[in-house]
Amino acid sequence: MSEFALRGAIYSLIGDPFFEAPADCVVYEADGLIWIRDGRIEAVGDYGALRQQMPDEVSIHHYPDSILLPGFIDAHIHYPQVEIIGAYGTQLLEWLNKYTFPAEARFNDPAHAQRIAEFFIAELQRNGTTAASVFCTSAPGSVDAIFEAAQKDNMLLLAGVMMMDSHAPANILDTAQSSYDASKTLIERWHKRGRCLYTVTPRFALTSSPQQLELAGALMREHADVRLQSHISENRAEVARAAELYPQRANYTDIYDHYGLLDERAIYGHAIHLSEGELRRFHETGAKIAHCPTSNFFIGSGLFDIARTRHAARPVTVGLGTDVGGGTSFSMLQTMSEAYKMAQLRGISVTAAQSYYLATLGSAQALGIDDRVGKLQPGYAADIAVLDPRATPLLALRADVAESIDELLFALMICADDRAVKATYVAGELVHDRDN
Ligand code: GUN
Ligand code: ZN
Repeated sequence: MSEFALRGAIYSLIGDPFFEAPADCVVYEADGLIWIRDGRIEAVGDYGALRQQMPDEVSIHHYPDSILLPGFIDAHIHYPQVEIIGAYGTQLLEWLNKYTFPAEARFNDPAHAQRIAEFFIAELQRNGTTAASVFCTSAPGSVDAIFEAAQKDNMLLLAGVMMMDSHAPANILDTAQSSYDASKTLIERWHKRGRCLYTVTPRFALTSSPQQLELAGALMREHADVRLQSHISENRAEVARAAELYPQRANYTDIYDHYGLLDERAIYGHAIHLSEGELRRFHETGAKIAHCPTSNFFIGSGLFDIARTRHAARPVTVGLGTDVGGGTSFSMLQTMSEAYKMAQLRGISVTAAQSYYLATLGSAQALGIDDRVGKLQPGYAADIAVLDPRATPLLALRADVAESIDELLFALMICADDRAVKATYVAGELVHDRDN
């Protein structure tokens, strides 16, 4: 049995601050203790009180002046696109053709896939991200590579082979049948192995034939607890093309709905240009959205409307994704910052609690993993990010005048990045230590 405890300020969302009063959904301990046993949280509380209950022999690692948060959860990221992050000058469809598809073709080589997968997992950890929903390529070996890399550190990772049989270069196309067969094999191999979870992954309607979407639906029916991830309504030219390819369908959402791809296990990236009727359908079916602001700004896709999407009359669950390499940073802090600015452009000021919710519990709910991660509470995995609010001279100056934890966390998400991640724990193991 391995047992230890972490001491520091503790901040964790346990409810949804878009709908509940902050006092009801935030747990904050100025001097807190997290008691960890065999990779799970045994107890969380005020240091003075919990110290009394914990056996004396349990060692305590103290992070004075640091904030312990649940590890960040990236609801949408592409590991094969790491090398093309920050590619100049295009919008979605041209960006895919010019940069993304050639980069993904390199993953037909398993050695390349392994090298980038290992880099990618380390980079997540450097950013305090402890779980992620990851897009691979159409090469089944790209899925083995990322799950193998994740498994080395016992990371909770959702991933699946990219299904794409149309309108892309031949060297990254599958067929409807081969993608179905590969998905099945990979589900058998990886789903629920360690902390790996399989996600059926049709890229988007533009690169899948009706037959392929039909088979993606079959995979979802045949495997009750695998997830589904895809893209929807990111860019206006994409929306128009989807309508051309599927003229019989009422709208973009209806394409996925028609093939049985819209339910509570599904999460769609972007969803910027959805109509009211489409959002209502997301709400009715329980399908989720991954909001990816750094990508939306960078590729020039549009301004996601968080207030409209989460409207109390028909709320849709939203998680936060970096969408690297369309997105420009692995940092969920930077991603929260850009989400804040995007909402500001629509006249909404997202609060610190709402932002950290999106990056932790919200993403967990959007991925159907909120029964095990996203909160610091007993029984949950000890997936923890340790943030140093004084990581740079500027941050230290700012922290000195912060009058509340909310003010401090807000300034941190606006101004900080990976330098503020002092340590990352995955299932109770230290996987990143900034200073050592
Ligand atoms: N839509 C379909 N594929 C992609 C992708 O790889 N990145 C982004 N941002 N949007 C997509
Ligand atoms: Zn994406």
